[in-house]
Amino acid sequence: MRFEDIIAEVDAECRRREVRMLGKEKAVRLAELIKEAKPGLVVEVGTAIGYSGLWIANGLRELGRGRLITFELDPGRAAEAGQNFKRAGLDHLITQHVGDARQETRKVVGPVDFLFLDGGFENYYPCLMNVREHLSPTAMLVADNAGIGAAEMADYLDYVRRNYDSHSEWFETDLSWNPKDAMEISYVGASKRPKSDKPIS
Ligand SMILES: C[S@@+](CC[C@H](N)C(=O)[O-])C[C@H]1O[C@@H](n2cnc3c(N)ncnc32)[C@H](O)[C@@H]1O
Repeated sequence: MRFEDIIAEVDAECRRREVRMLGKEKAVRLAELIKEAKPGLVVEVGTAIGYSGLWIANGLRELGRGRLITFELDPGRAAEAGQNFKRAGLDHLITQHVGDARQETRKVVGPVDFLFLDGGFENYYPCLMNVREHLSPTAMLVADNAGIGAAEMADYLDYVRRNYDSHSEWFETDLSWNPKDAMEISYVGASKRPKSDKPIS
């Protein structure tokens, strides 16, 4: 099935059932970032029924490299995502894990080149801590809902802004549940260092 057709179907299904997916505006930006990062390994927290995973994996297919490991708590949603990945002919690029990402991401070995967080605002920080040691030196992190979820993910935002080159990008969307929101985009390779190595006297 063509990517555009499956995306249109999954988009409509998410809206019908209020499965809170990323939405086209942010997904297009996410795909652009995938193209920029050229990752060997992408880790996603929050598969839902596969909308964002389809965008990520399609970007990897277009790049001709990379694979996606994605985590979802809800087995029904994960099974549905699996069907959607298969119908899009992208399942060979994707490994799904069902379970609580706060525990499951501890098993990720890496190196992780791209981390996409979209599964429970308060889970972002523990999931980052779980994979932190396995991030590649030039890894990119993208966290959805950095606008509406800022309070619940304050520990995550504080950490990435203190340690990495990190900024929020705002989007207007046509999602009824989330018309205006941000993604936090963080570049691990551009970690914040003192501007000068000169000793202070
Ligand atoms: C906003 S939806 C993800 C949307 C998806 N990224 C997309 O754009 O298509 C959040 C998903 O995270 C899952 N989730 C919540 N807590 C989780 C956890 N601790 N571990 C794994 N998945 C979790 C929920 O079941 C839900 O399906």
